[in-house]
Amino acid sequence: MERSEQIQRLDRLVAGFSKPQSALLEVLHALRAWNRGQVPDTMVEDIARCCDLPVTRVRQVVAVQDRAADLTDRPRVCVGLTCYLHGGRDILEASSTHPVLPREQVAWAPSPCLGHCYAAPVARLADGRLVQLVRQGDWSQASAKPFAV
Ligand code: FES
Repeated sequence: MERSEQIQRLDRLVAGFSKPQSALLEVLHALRAWNRGQVPDTMVEDIARCCDLPVTRVRQVVAVQDRAADLTDRPRVCVGLTCYLHGGRDILEASSTHPVLPREQVAWAPSPCLGHCYAAPVARLADGRLVQLVRQGDWSQASAKPFAV
């Protein structure tokens, strides 16, 4: 999605909040969904404008989220409520003894809601792609179905 379209969408998203500052987490969530889990550095000033916050505050929140999610080094399975109820916890446990997907050989880490609950259970692979996991018998084997964001 083009940057200008993302900005338009963010403006519409923020308009639904009584205070623009309250929209920050939703804005970051949407941006991560559109940008493979990343908040583009080129958009930090746009986020600050949309949410009527200082740029430094936006950078702090993004940095804290990045550290907390540790988004780049391990595959992560969502254990937000919807994914949890659709097997997220079972996938996490299965991955500790057996690779869930052949290309993801390490034990998976848990992730908070990845923002695609409609596709539960959802995972973010080590390369950053978001996928829907599809059970094959049990969760010790699964297939990954990419979806467009
Ligand atoms: S609960 Fe998993 S994507 Fe939202």
